[in-house]
Amino acid sequence: MTANPAHEDDIFRPAIHYTAKNTWLNDPNGLVYHEGIYHLYYQNNPFGNVWGNMSWGHATSVDLVNWDEQPVAILCDAEEDIFSGSIVIDQYNTSGLGNGQAAPLVAIYTSAYKDSSARRGTQAQSLAWSSDGGYTWTKHQGNPVLDRNSADFRDPKVFRYSGPPGSYWVMVAVEANEHKVVIYSSDNLRDWHYLSSFGPANATGGVWECPDLFPLPLDGDEEQTKWVLTVNLNPGGPNSGSGGQYFVGRFDGVAFTSQTTVTDGSNQTADLDTYHWLDWGRDYYAAVSFNDAPDGRRLMVGWMNNWQYGAAIPTWPWRSSMSLVREISLVTHQGQPRLSQRVADEYRTGNALSVSTWADLAIDEGMRHLHTGAPVEIIEVIFIPGSAEEFGLIIRGNGTDGTRIGIRPSENRLIMDRKSSGNTEFHDAFASTDTAPLKQDSDGSYTLTLFIDHCSVEVFAQNGLVTMTGLIFPGPDSTRLSLYAKGGTATAPCLKVTRPAEPPVRIEEPLVLSR
Ligand code: FRU
Repeated sequence: MTANPAHEDDIFRPAIHYTAKNTWLNDPNGLVYHEGIYHLYYQNNPFGNVWGNMSWGHATSVDLVNWDEQPVAILCDAEEDIFSGSIVIDQYNTSGLGNGQAAPLVAIYTSAYKDSSARRGTQAQSLAWSSDGGYTWTKHQGNPVLDRNSADFRDPKVFRYSGPPGSYWVMVAVEANEHKVVIYSSDNLRDWHYLSSFGPANATGGVWECPDLFPLPLDGDEEQTKWVLTVNLNPGGPNSGSGGQYFVGRFDGVAFTSQTTVTDGSNQTADLDTYHWLDWGRDYYAAVSFNDAPDGRRLMVGWMNNWQYGAAIPTWPWRSSMSLVREISLVTHQGQPRLSQRVADEYRTGNALSVSTWADLAIDEGMRHLHTGAPVEIIEVIFIPGSAEEFGLIIRGNGTDGTRIGIRPSENRLIMDRKSSGNTEFHDAFASTDTAPLKQDSDGSYTLTLFIDHCSVEVFAQNGLVTMTGLIFPGPDSTRLSLYAKGGTATAPCLKVTRPAEPPVRIEEPLVLSR
């Protein structure tokens, strides 16, 4: 079988985001940094561009920006799909796996058993190991290693814990339908002991999936390290469909205690604004962080899509991409610990293709065309509200259509309106106006940073406390940037548009697996 992705039909392929060459992907899996290489594994259908045949695809990078697709890492078989999970470097070979020479990499993944399996309908945790730095994998003979006889026990994130009770492996996974994160420990990755569970709490409007648990210093102070528990939720996100929430608190090696819980999760009509979201947009899901990232950085990646319409997005021959890699930190905001996120600096280090700046832009009621640029741009802008009830940018415009990224100061809200963003027809749930609470800075201004690619926009606001990620499908010639105001005026004292150096999009030799 040959697939030849004719470039003219492939207008949405991202330039600075990872996507598989010609297949489907969803959740990032097994994110790990090992011997100078970032490994990104992911839920992948090696045989098609919709969900199915779940296996772990694989890509590698030395700089987080340029990714090379590798052969499929762990393939589904007749008995099991390979669902989400994580990878650890088993430095001291606690597992006894591997070839006895190099420390093995051990993948802990969910076996989703198929009808042909004696365990049909259940999900349990299994191991695979690699002795060649993560390129080829062998499933462990003793799988599964942790079975609760549950239909919805999945998405193990394993990390090395060292603290007062000792040093051991910790797994966080979910009982998805019970809105619970379950926590286990092990000395050898094969025998697991139940420690505790967390949840339901805060948002419970959908199944809980893909948890993560990690320490972060508060305001950069190692003495004040806190633990962050993230858990993704589908549906029930802040603007409907898939989303991710986080809790901040304490982990003592046994149990996680949250200091940011608002409700016990029983109140389904609760105000979603009061919870803490990894992202307020509709296309940031299944986010997890890298194990062993250098320099103590906590780097996270999400799947840039939404289960509501993910299978229908109008891309070809691939479908779905990853978000940009985010570096996250913990800061005090109004007396409370909150996550602050920024796009990893690596995306800014390449030589920019061009930089344009403007100063003291007056925004009158209506729309002001500013520049005709390129599909891939980074926009940084400071706004000062005037009399307008709403103001902002129209990005990826063509004079008629465009995506509105705006601020309503009296409502304290950030807006992403993609109702006229281009192709919205492919699914009823896609066109939307999504909003997030947004506060102005102490000097009364708002600063936004936007990363725009061929079919997406990621917005970072309020010093990274508020992020909003959305897919958009404008025509390739929709590259106009405008300012707009409704019901009055506003100003933009500074605006900067950078065209980043685009990593080469490698599609010449698509990987095709036939069976
Ligand atoms: C989240 C998820 C996980 C599961 C995987 C299957 O998007 O549903 O819970 O492991 O996708 O592809």
